[in-house]
Amino acid sequence: MKKLVVALSMVAFAAIAFANGPETIDLSKAFNVKSPTKKAVMFPHALHQKNNQCTDCHMDAKGGKDLKGADGKKFVAGEVKGTANALHKNFCWPCHEKKQVKAGKSCTTCHK
Ligand code: HEC
Ligand code: HEC
Ligand code: HEC
Repeated sequence: MKKLVVALSMVAFAAIAFANGPETIDLSKAFNVKSPTKKAVMFPHALHQKNNQCTDCHMDAKGGKDLKGADGKKFVAGEVKGTANALHKNFCWPCHEKKQVKAGKSCTTCHK
């Protein structure tokens, strides 16, 4: 019985870990950055799940590829190039501003 409970809880844990997606995501790969001038952003996904709602960033509470822009619409990255790119302006930066994240717009907070 004890073994069964342990086995079942391990299955449940694995399911949760999987449903939450990767712990860290290389966003230069996810957004297919073609000629990077900055270091690739290794996005701390698990950390962001602690103090934000899934639906702050995803169109759906299950997560997945459909992200929600800061404008509340389905996020479209387009070609990620230069400092005026959509990830800065319509995804990462507005929330860091709103939540007053320390050094939230410093280049080296994300590109390191
Ligand atoms: C601060 C923003 C943010 C929050 C909060 C967040 N995510 Fe994500 N999540 C992302 C980004 C960015 C990606 C990468 C999307 C991509 O690869 O196109 C991602 C990817 C994922 C993926 C993998 C999608 C795939 O098919 O590769 C899953 C699953 C996921 N998130 C689930 C969740 C769940 C569940 C929550 C809440 C517990 C959550 N996320 C909270 C930003 C966030
Ligand atoms: C919905 C709000 C929200 C969005 C969108 C968001 N962040 Fe954050 N981010 C936070 C908060 C809040 C913190 C402060 C850390 C904490 O306490 O959770 C943070 C902290 C960070 C940190 C510092 C982590 C540390 O170790 O101190 C990095 C790096 C970061 N974010 C990267 C990103 C990147 C890259 C994006 C866009 C792909 C992004 N964030 C989008 C809310 C957000
Ligand atoms: C909150 C996180 C965050 C901060 C702060 C940030 N960036 Fe980015 N930046 C990103 C993400 C995410 C991408 C797209 C993924 C990638 O390039 O790895 C990106 C892409 C870029 C790109 C296009 C790709 C490339 O490598 O040429 C440039 C240029 C850029 N950032 C410059 C800057 C500069 C300059 C600063 C400081 C003023 C800065 N970024 C601060 C998250 C951030």
